[in-house]
Amino acid sequence: MSADYQVHDNVAVITLNNPPVNGMGLATRTAAVAALRRAQDDGAIVAIVLTGAGKAFSGGADIKEFNSPNALAEPSLFALIATAEGSTKPVVAAIHSVCMGGGLELALGCHYRVALPGAQIALPEVKLGLLPGAGGTQRLPRVLGLEMALNMIVSGTPVLSEKLAGTMLFNEVFSAGTDLVPAAVAFAKSVAALRPLPKVREMTVDYPEHAAFLASTRATVKAAAGPFPAPLECVETVAASVTMPFDEGIKFERQRFMHLMQTTESKALRHAFFAERLASKIPDVPADTPTRAIDKAAVIGAGTMGGGIAMNFANAGIPVILLETKQEALDKGLATIRKNYENTMKKGKLTPEKCAQRIGLISGTLDYAAIASADIVVEAVFEDLAVKETVFRQLDAVMKPGAILASNTSTLDVDKIAAFTGRPQDVIGTHFFSPANVMKLLEIVRGKATAKDVLATTLALSKKLKKTGVVSGVCDGFIGNRMVEQYVRQAGFLLDEGALPAQVDRAAEQFGFAMGPFRMGDLAGNDIGWYIRKRRAIESPGMLYSKTADLLCEQGRFGQKTGAGWYDYKAGDRTAYPSPLVDDMVLAHSAALGVTRRVISDAEIVERLVYSLVNEGAQILAEGIAMRASDIDMVYLTGYGFPLYRGGPMFYADTVGLPNVLAAIEHYARGANGAAWVAAPLLVQLAADGKQFNR
Ligand code: 3HC
Ligand code: NAI
Repeated sequence: MSADYQVHDNVAVITLNNPPVNGMGLATRTAAVAALRRAQDDGAIVAIVLTGAGKAFSGGADIKEFNSPNALAEPSLFALIATAEGSTKPVVAAIHSVCMGGGLELALGCHYRVALPGAQIALPEVKLGLLPGAGGTQRLPRVLGLEMALNMIVSGTPVLSEKLAGTMLFNEVFSAGTDLVPAAVAFAKSVAALRPLPKVREMTVDYPEHAAFLASTRATVKAAAGPFPAPLECVETVAASVTMPFDEGIKFERQRFMHLMQTTESKALRHAFFAERLASKIPDVPADTPTRAIDKAAVIGAGTMGGGIAMNFANAGIPVILLETKQEALDKGLATIRKNYENTMKKGKLTPEKCAQRIGLISGTLDYAAIASADIVVEAVFEDLAVKETVFRQLDAVMKPGAILASNTSTLDVDKIAAFTGRPQDVIGTHFFSPANVMKLLEIVRGKATAKDVLATTLALSKKLKKTGVVSGVCDGFIGNRMVEQYVRQAGFLLDEGALPAQVDRAAEQFGFAMGPFRMGDLAGNDIGWYIRKRRAIESPGMLYSKTADLLCEQGRFGQKTGAGWYDYKAGDRTAYPSPLVDDMVLAHSAALGVTRRVISDAEIVERLVYSLVNEGAQILAEGIAMRASDIDMVYLTGYGFPLYRGGPMFYADTVGLPNVLAAIEHYARGANGAAWVAAPLLVQLAADGKQFNR
């Protein structure tokens, strides 16, 4: 049953019932149309109330249905809206909680709308690379006016129902605590006899200066939209509400909606929407797994990461104690945190009260006894197994039973770390990204012994900290850094073969990466990779990579923090200036290798960088380190600046076509430094079977 039917006092109450958010899939549309007809045909019914069960009036069209034939099957959302609007008995939309997209479009097709306060009202289609496709672009301006409707449609941002009280969107916004259905029924009875029935389609949008307003809006929106076509399409369709009669506007909207539906950008955004939600679902950890309470936290190490991690807890209202070995390091860490908060406050992004409150939630100590009662402790000391061992042995000795012992290690073996304790089931990796108080990604590393409730608690915590939690198995570098290593390796080979850092970065950035590999290295610190390569040289000697990065580090050019890296920097300026010295070093290194440098196209640069990610991603998937391709995409979208409109490396590979990706990899395997390319067996298999990473 996806729409319930009841009668209250001669008023039919139709309740959309398709959990979790009453998405309007085929079954729901069919049931709602049938219920409206039933009410229409029943002579005893004087009016109709349309509402939604559970946590929403409706979240809109059923996005899960978009790629299936059901999306276009009748009755369409249009047919449902037409049935409501065409009813000869008044239809009242009774709105609560969430009224978005097709849900709001349905409400706009009703004759009256009443709402509880606190309901989120939005046409958020633009966030999925679409525009409202069931009349929203034509009806919302008719009730809210051109400017307000355009803002809502172009931004997709929800507005609370009480803020829209007094507009023609709502006939009434009830006071808080009102019992919605009885109040809506009473309202319906009060208007039952009124005729003609008001219809939004019959209203007009009055905006005499619309041409000038639209022209300036187009310019602003175009500049802000970047590679996404939807925002500007939203402007054009909303413009039709003033420049075209209603039915023509609807036709135009339909045409532009169908066009956007086919764009890669929209497919990528829809993929990201579901990928984000899927990432928190672990097949062998049911959603109802009990979680441990996290009311108090501790962080070991008040350096770059420890400070940012502590801020995350404070931002979520969780008191946190930072532990250091020396007072000086602790004072420095706490001072940096204070400065960060004060800077945010100075920019007007944090009120003085909130700033003080957050700083007040963070304290420091040199004594393990002070953190013993924390529910979770996150270790963020030097990336050195011996140091981690000392810390985890101490944690095992002092922490209360049931405390979660987390490590922020970026490459080390979480199982080995867990083995330093007598409670490996409580140990987990929480790999934050730098700056930890800003970056969305949290890689959650599940060790062999990690208890299910520890995993469930950490996933729940990631939501509380407003992070995208993605689970990774244990391997060197986990999902993100293991892949990025291949990407950086290719970047190095490109230098040896003929490119310069600025060209490689420019090509990557034109593809859409937030930052090319060399600018990224300068930001993160080139010494990190140097340290890892030295470790690798001992653990797995003979690995092929360009020596340019080592030569750079030998000159102390660690990046922005030393004022010089792949680029030159000026004091107080993060701008990367190409360095003649580095370029000479690159040329000299090619010469030393006996390489005749060649012109490398931007297309080759992009393919080699991106396909190295894809190939390693396929390997990670086959090994079960990532549970699904979409998890890898989330890691890259939220932690590595991969362009959102391309949907992540694995989704991008699917759009290019896996046989094409494989052919390119085989081509590069025959070229210089070709030994670095070994096509992942999973990629070979999927390409042969005509399948994709993201099914
Ligand atoms: N269709 C199908 N499923 C939907 C959905 C929709 N429109 N909106 C949300 N869901 C699902 C989610 O996938 C998730 O499923 P899961 O539990 O299986 O993972 C579940 O509902 C809960 O979603 P959230 O975790 O996001 O829950 P929240 O309570 O945090 O947020 C929400 C609820 C505000 C509705 C949020 O999910 C949201 O913003 N949804 C998208 C709304 C949207 O974009 N609507 C427009 C659709 S396009 C449209 O209507 C086209 C029309 O113009 C023709
Ligand atoms: P950092 O050098 O800035 O800070 C480390 C801090 O730990 C220092 O303040 C040091 O005094 C303290 N410390 C060292 N030994 C200690 C001990 N025994 N007890 C208590 N405190 C101790 O290092 P950073 O960059 O913050 O890295 C910390 C961890 O986070 C490492 O494991 C690193 O691999 C990981 N990481 C680093 C990222 C980065 O971009 N810097 C990104 C993601 C993870």
